[in-house]
Amino acid sequence: MKDKTKYILDEADLPKAWYNINPDMPISPGPILHPVTKEPVTPEFLSVLFPMKFIQEAVSTERFIEIPKPVREIYKLWRPSPLIRARRLEKLLDTPAHIYYKYEGVSPVGSHKPNTSVAQAFYASEEGVTGFATETGAGQWGSALAMACKFFDLACDVYMVRVSYDQKPYRRIMMQSFGAEVAPSPSEKTEFGRKILSEDPSSLGSLGIAISEAVEAAVTSEGKLKYSLGSVLGPVLMHQTVIGLEALKQFEMADEYPDILIGCVGGGSNFAGLAFPFLHQNFTAGKETRFIAVEPTACPTLTKGPYAFDYGDTAMMAPIVKMNTLGHTFVPPGIHAGGLRYHGMSPHISALYQHGSIEARAVDQIPTFEAAVQFTQSEGIIPAPETSHAVKVAIDEAIKCKEEGTSKVIVFNFSGHGLLDLAAYDAYIQGKLKNYAYPEEKIQEAMKHLPEVPEAALT
Ligand SMILES: Cc1ncc(COP(=O)(O)O)c(C=O)c1O
Repeated sequence: MKDKTKYILDEADLPKAWYNINPDMPISPGPILHPVTKEPVTPEFLSVLFPMKFIQEAVSTERFIEIPKPVREIYKLWRPSPLIRARRLEKLLDTPAHIYYKYEGVSPVGSHKPNTSVAQAFYASEEGVTGFATETGAGQWGSALAMACKFFDLACDVYMVRVSYDQKPYRRIMMQSFGAEVAPSPSEKTEFGRKILSEDPSSLGSLGIAISEAVEAAVTSEGKLKYSLGSVLGPVLMHQTVIGLEALKQFEMADEYPDILIGCVGGGSNFAGLAFPFLHQNFTAGKETRFIAVEPTACPTLTKGPYAFDYGDTAMMAPIVKMNTLGHTFVPPGIHAGGLRYHGMSPHISALYQHGSIEARAVDQIPTFEAAVQFTQSEGIIPAPETSHAVKVAIDEAIKCKEEGTSKVIVFNFSGHGLLDLAAYDAYIQGKLKNYAYPEEKIQEAMKHLPEVPEAALT
């Protein structure tokens, strides 16, 4: 049925299992190493931070992992999400391309993030943990975890990157409405936060710093709090695959199949969520979809960051993983796509990029907002600044189709709406935004601080 605009699945079509890419990875995403000993981590070490079920998922080689019933029941509040054909945008661009987007903005908090927060909160509640500590950049992840914690009666202790805390008070208020405790990071609540503030009282913060604070809060809580991460780790990416599994069915309904699949990448979870089930088709069913991960030029992790072992956080408390990285000392400029300002990238996404299974592209802030506004003016939805990066490349590819006279099927993950990001649009409309390319010298300097990993740990 090629003539429809919205492809909607029934509740009964909600996937019963997530897709786990571990057994299909063409190259290994590498070991997870202890931040101090630099030896492969033990489940006991990880269990201080994460619920056991989450750790089991990280090492599982089962291709499909059942979604627990209580998690599916909550997913039903907004899932399955629609796959929408952007017909009015196609018309505006006068392109022969067919542009689709999977709209994750329908979740209660407006993004893809609850697909994993609900699963993580369920696991924690099953283990008798009383709450989670976490970091948040733009506040999207914090709101998703705050909601999930409230649903499972857990406390939620959020460290929000200072620049977003100041730019985005409405996300803070949303988290507080769910009963979460929110502190600007760096904060006075942790030893690491106090150290950073003593060195730089006006620090804008970074995701790396906020992760360190949340990890410290969990580790020093005497077992009361676990740590929750909204991206990067294998199980988080896997929880997001409900997006792509639904989209596969929706493309069957549309009688089309994507030639090009696009997603923005911060830590990689929304991109993976849409891409992995389609990558599975490339690996096993002879499909030839191209995959494009989009990042800001201000934080060019895949396109400029070396593939190396690095710490997941700034304080060197989080595990060391192999990934594309700008260095754990990276403090990014205050661009508006707060969720794309992480120094590293998911080890799975990094490995797939090294292998050539996926491509990456970096885009500047101003053309990204121009694309977002084109989308808004044709399709009516205001994209989150992070999502706008995917919109920009979808538009670029559709224009290329017009120039080449080819009609490709393009799909992108619409990871979240931007209704609480209007300050960013205000800055754009008033001409206050600047393009910023992260300087090569800063990357080189940060590489001097990478951990040295003993050869023995890698075998
Ligand atoms: C709307 C939205 N999209 C994308 C991202 C980037 O994260 P990830 O790469 O894990 O999807 C974020 C992160 O905060 C976000 O809020």
